[in-house]
Amino acid sequence: MDSKIALITGGSRGLGNNAALALAKKGNDIILTYNSKQADADKTVKEIEQLGHKAIALQLDVGNTKSFIEFAEQVKKTLKDKWSTDHFDFLVNNAGIGIHATFAETTEDEFD
Ligand SMILES: NC(=O)c1ccc[n+]([C@@H]2O[C@H](COP(=O)([O-])OP(=O)(O)OC[C@H]3O[C@@H](n4cnc5c(N)ncnc54)[C@H](OP(=O)(O)O)[C@@H]3O)[C@@H](O)[C@H]2O)c1
Repeated sequence: MDSKIALITGGSRGLGNNAALALAKKGNDIILTYNSKQADADKTVKEIEQLGHKAIALQLDVGNTKSFIEFAEQVKKTLKDKWSTDHFDFLVNNAGIGIHATFAETTEDEFD
């Protein structure tokens, strides 16, 4: 049976990393994204491959909306080249940061 493919944003660390490994352990292939910590993302890719599944890490900054079209093209190309398909099966839309401040205290830069 073919594996299903999960796209997990912010899969290099924290909850997204945990989700990536848990979904791989359940038999899924993984596309994960990182913002700046490529080494962490590459380590996760290796761990998933050691579980016997395909994985790849792509760079994505969700704060840069202008990059989304190019990111979508990169995902389409990755799906075609690595999986010979045109779709993924699950999205875990996780990338982001936590700021422990009220809305009123949060600056525009922090929001961006
Ligand atoms: N932990 C909690 O208790 C909690 C509670 C409620 C909600 N959340 C939400 O759950 C999500 C994950 O939280 P976490 O605690 O696991 O965070 P984390 O450990 O700080 O990991 C954040 C992940 O998101 C990526 N990321 C950060 N900024 C990004 C950006 N601008 N564009 C794209 N990717 C970005 C990071 O990539 P790099 O590794 O490359 O930096 C990393 O993979 C966040 O959206 C957070 O707001 C967390």
